[in-house]
Amino acid sequence: MSSAIDESLKGKGQAAGGWKSWSLKKRLLIIGGGLLVVVAIALGVGLGVGLTKGGSDDGEVPPTSGGKVTTAEWQPKPGTTWQIQLLNPLNDTSLDVEVFDIDLFNNDKSIIDELHQKNRKVICYFSAGSYENWRPDKSKFKDSDLGSTLDGWEDEKWLNLKSQNVRDIMASRLDMAKEKNCDGVDPDNVDGYDNKNGLDLKQEDSADFMMWLANEAHARNMSIGLKNAGAIIPAVIDNMQWSVNEQCMQYDECDKYAAFVDKNKPVFHIEYPKGDDTNNNDDVTTQQKDKACEYNNKKFSTLIKNMKLDAWFQKC
Ligand SMILES: *[C@@H]1O[C@H](CO)[C@@H](O)[C@H](O)[C@H]1NC(C)=O
Ligand SMILES: *[C@@H]1O[C@H](CO)[C@@H](O)[C@H](O)[C@H]1NC(C)=O
Repeated sequence: MSSAIDESLKGKGQAAGGWKSWSLKKRLLIIGGGLLVVVAIALGVGLGVGLTKGGSDDGEVPPTSGGKVTTAEWQPKPGTTWQIQLLNPLNDTSLDVEVFDIDLFNNDKSIIDELHQKNRKVICYFSAGSYENWRPDKSKFKDSDLGSTLDGWEDEKWLNLKSQNVRDIMASRLDMAKEKNCDGVDPDNVDGYDNKNGLDLKQEDSADFMMWLANEAHARNMSIGLKNAGAIIPAVIDNMQWSVNEQCMQYDECDKYAAFVDKNKPVFHIEYPKGDDTNNNDDVTTQQKDKACEYNNKKFSTLIKNMKLDAWFQKC
C-alpha cells in the first residue's frame, strides 16, 4: 500500500474536526435559547425535535421518510465483540472477536473465508457518500456526482446521494461485497448534510439513500449499519442492523445512539482518546479509558483505537 493510501485512510470515516465543533457550538447556542430558533427555521434544519429532546443537536428526520423496511437474516446482538481495521489488508485472523469490520476493496475473499472458517462474521467497509480518488472504480463517477472536498480529506469529495449513477456504483460495490462473502456492509460518509457538501444535501437525502442502500444490501442477503449520522437514526433505524459510531462519548452523543441497543441492535463504538495525530501501540490512561468505556455498561461494543484505524485496539 502506498503512503498516499495510508494517508487517505488515516482516521477513515472520522468527520473532520470542523463540523463536529460547528455542531457543538450550535448545540451550546441552542441551549442558550430562543434567537437561534429563528435562525434555525430560516436554515430549515428542523430544530424542533432537537429542542424538545433537549440533548439532540441538529434536529432529526422523523421515522417515516425513505420508504419500506426489509429484513436481514443476520442480526447481531448488543454487546457483540468486534475489531475494526481499515488500514492495510487484514493479515491476522486469530483475534478472538465475533465480528471483523474490514475494507471491502483491500481484502481478498480468501481472508473473509478464513474468518468464516473461524466462525467470525465479516462487515465490509466502503465509502458510500464520498468519492475516493484512489479506488479502482473511481472513473465511473461523473463530474456532476461530486461536491465539495471533505474537510481534512483532500482526496475525497462528497457524493450526490440522489444521483442514479452514484447509486448504480454503490450497487456494484454491494455486488462485490456479496462476491467476497461479506456478511454485512459498513457504508461510510452518509452524513454529508452535516458538512459543507456543495450539493445541497439534506438529512432527508441521507435517510432516503440509507433506506435504499439497506434494501439493496438485504436483497443480497447482507446486513447493514448506519455510520454516525445521528440525526437520521429515527428515520432509518428499523432498516439497520447496527450502528457504527465514532466518538459519541467525546461529543456527548451516546444517548442518541443508545436507541439501537433499545431495539436490541449493537452499537459498534469507537473512541480515539489519543487524538488525531497520535497513532501508537500504547494503552491510554485509566482516566481516558474510563471515559471512553462509560457506555460499555449499556451494552455498547466499545473499542479504543488509533485514528488511522490500524490493528491496534484497547478493550474496555
Ligand atoms: C501484517 O500487516 C502489517 C501491516 O501491513 C505488517 O506490518 C505485518 O508485517 C504483516 N504481518 C504478517 C505476518 O504478514
Ligand atoms: C444469508 O446470510 C447469512 C449470514 O451471513 C448466512 O448465514 C446464510 O447462510 C445466508 N443465506 C443464504 C441463502 O445465502
